[in-house]
Amino acid sequence: MSAVLEDVRILEDYLVMSDEEIAERIEAARQELGKRVVILGHHYQRDDVIRHADLTGDSYQLSVMASQTDAEYIVFCGVHFMAESADILGKPAQRVILPDLGAGCSMADMATIEQVEDAWEQLRDIGVLDQRVAPITYMNSSAAIKAFCGRNEGVVCTSSNAIPLFDIYLKEFDKMFFFPDQHLGRNTGSKFGIPLDKMVLWNPNEELGGNTPEQLREAKLILWRGHCSVHGRFKPWHVDKIRQEVPGVQVLVHPECMKEVVDLSDLDGSTSFIIKTVENARSGSKWAIGTEVNLVNRLAQRFPDKEIHLLAPDLCMCATMYRIAPQNLAWAMENLLDGNVVNEISVDAETKHYANIALERMISMTEKK
Ligand code: 13P
Ligand code: SF4
Repeated sequence: MSAVLEDVRILEDYLVMSDEEIAERIEAARQELGKRVVILGHHYQRDDVIRHADLTGDSYQLSVMASQTDAEYIVFCGVHFMAESADILGKPAQRVILPDLGAGCSMADMATIEQVEDAWEQLRDIGVLDQRVAPITYMNSSAAIKAFCGRNEGVVCTSSNAIPLFDIYLKEFDKMFFFPDQHLGRNTGSKFGIPLDKMVLWNPNEELGGNTPEQLREAKLILWRGHCSVHGRFKPWHVDKIRQEVPGVQVLVHPECMKEVVDLSDLDGSTSFIIKTVENARSGSKWAIGTEVNLVNRLAQRFPDKEIHLLAPDLCMCATMYRIAPQNLAWAMENLLDGNVVNEISVDAETKHYANIALERMISMTEKK
């Protein structure tokens, strides 16, 4: 258990240390803690953090890694919903640490459990739930929403497994209610040939989400009105412009981008898909990538033999991912050395139980496909 407050190291003390000292302290703590700790890093983390990660991955891979590690402490360099998923999937005695509690996700915040439950009741009131409706949540959502899906035959999906999971659910259910990312939902629905008028948008601030009962009954997909502010910055004109400026360029984007951008791109997929595509590309090939800037810059550095551009010229950075600074990591790690667990992410037992159903369902369905 945590020591008394006076023994807890103070973050402010780390903010004045040099970058070199911070890096050395993180490595020294890592060595000393050995197998007791695993540092997981999402692909959007900054270079000075990702260099300390034991394992890196997209949000799906990180959830599987969290479910498989035996480490006593999982230090999660990512955002809040990812750390929550690690706590849900981890072993009971494991402790999950998010080095900065301000590392949230603005998209995940666009759907609250109260709004989702209210929407579900509205659908029940107009008879839509007499059809078989599956609630599917993007990984970028709260544990409470994942638990809601677990209770109601639904599942969690990520950008790397949305297609196989939609495939299963579209066959077994009459319709899906997808939250909170309208773009991933619409892009994936389009891949299954669902016409746009069968994919209605649910605005949580309006009665029936701003739809008529008839539209909701006829819809195949109900899409929550949420989006990622980082990927929302990529516009169709960026694709047109880069194609004019860089002849032969291939456009590769994350499916959180709007459908108009995905439609104009050559390829779209999760952060791991983006990395793999560039890794396997021929030397001399040209790429314009529509995703978070830290990942794109890292790819450009790793592959100087390939021409790599950020799809939009302005800074497309996930400000909340960026909150995990090496100073926070050093502070969290050295506190672990002292036996203090700071910034622990802990999901309550009931939420954990049902969210685990939805997450485990995701993993088993993904592994089977
Ligand atoms: P990935 O699942 O591709 O890692 O994406 C997570 C995310 O938050 C992208 O914005
Ligand atoms: Fe959330 Fe967008 Fe940041 Fe991903 S990039 S964590 S969706 S705000």
